[in-house]
Amino acid sequence: MHVTLRQLEAFVTVARHLSFTRAAEELNLTQPAVSMQIKQLESQLGQALFEQMGKKIYLTEAGHDVRQYARSILQQVDDMKAGLENLSGLERGTLSISVATTAHYFAPKLLSIFYERYPGVNVKLDVTNRESLVSQLENNTVDMVIMGRPPEDIDVESGAFMENPLVLIAPADHPFTREKSIQLTRLENEVFLVREEGSGTRKAMEMFFAQHGIQMTTGMEVSSDEAIKRSVQAGLGLGIMSRDAVQNELQLGLLCIPDVLHFPIMRHWYVMHRKGKRLSPVAQAFKGYLLEEAASILNKDPNLRRSAKPLDTTPPADASSLPDASSPMDPPRPESPVGEKYVPAKPKYVLTGPDGNPIPPAPRK
Ligand code: PGA
Repeated sequence: MHVTLRQLEAFVTVARHLSFTRAAEELNLTQPAVSMQIKQLESQLGQALFEQMGKKIYLTEAGHDVRQYARSILQQVDDMKAGLENLSGLERGTLSISVATTAHYFAPKLLSIFYERYPGVNVKLDVTNRESLVSQLENNTVDMVIMGRPPEDIDVESGAFMENPLVLIAPADHPFTREKSIQLTRLENEVFLVREEGSGTRKAMEMFFAQHGIQMTTGMEVSSDEAIKRSVQAGLGLGIMSRDAVQNELQLGLLCIPDVLHFPIMRHWYVMHRKGKRLSPVAQAFKGYLLEEAASILNKDPNLRRSAKPLDTTPPADASSLPDASSPMDPPRPESPVGEKYVPAKPKYVLTGPDGNPIPPAPRK
């Protein structure tokens, strides 16, 4: 078998974009050149790696497997280069990071400043949920990962660089906005929109309700923070998400954070990599930059984090399991008038499937 690194690189790039055109742009190649690399790889492996449906391409099952191996091989080559040459300081080099879906609200800002300092650095950024991040750490396919809490079952070196309060979000005209110090048990009468299985936010939310003995009624399952925010605005239920994800909506008065006891669920953002991993100078510089500067950079930007605080000292272990981890960090609630408009979400038939038929919510446990 004759598989080349170029083929693997073309393949992972197409797999990341699910587009030959965009992969060709990123690789500075023509689209036919990229297609040729993929064809050659497929013929070497004797398997189709992509399939086309309509105008879109998808990874086949074999494609998913090959992607894992290919990323791991390419990462090892990067590690090897970094280890052998220690590259030439920080002028060049590749930084490959993966961030939790929710972290994409602030990661680009941090990267843009890092780029200004080290313009020769090439960054590969992957945005995915916690479960995939854990498997990327396990398979050593990236330099480092940013997510909400280190995994328990993998040996990682991690450092918390910023607080990550998870807040309860409601439509701006929800009756809760008229109340203060609302008991947690009142949430049993509400429907919650949840992220997909594998999301760190969802896990934290479920743990929080379980710790407080609250029965959560789940409405629709939605795999994007953006769609959850829109659904909450539309009155389909309440949500819980990182405050980093809702800054805009709070500023525009589209959503509010009701004053419910025990909120926010206090977590932290961590940067981490496999224990013993040899970081390139660029990766080391990025890690140091996150740990030392990220919180103050982001907290200075009112559009990103209006009132979050930087971490003063090394924080304690993730505090999401502490029932009384609430902090006085809630941003001012939008002064939206509370009218009679709010209609509580009906847990029945809030979601329709691709066939147009309603999908009922998960049964109440
Ligand atoms: P998520 O992760 O985007 O998968 O919910 C956030 C986190 O790790 O806390």
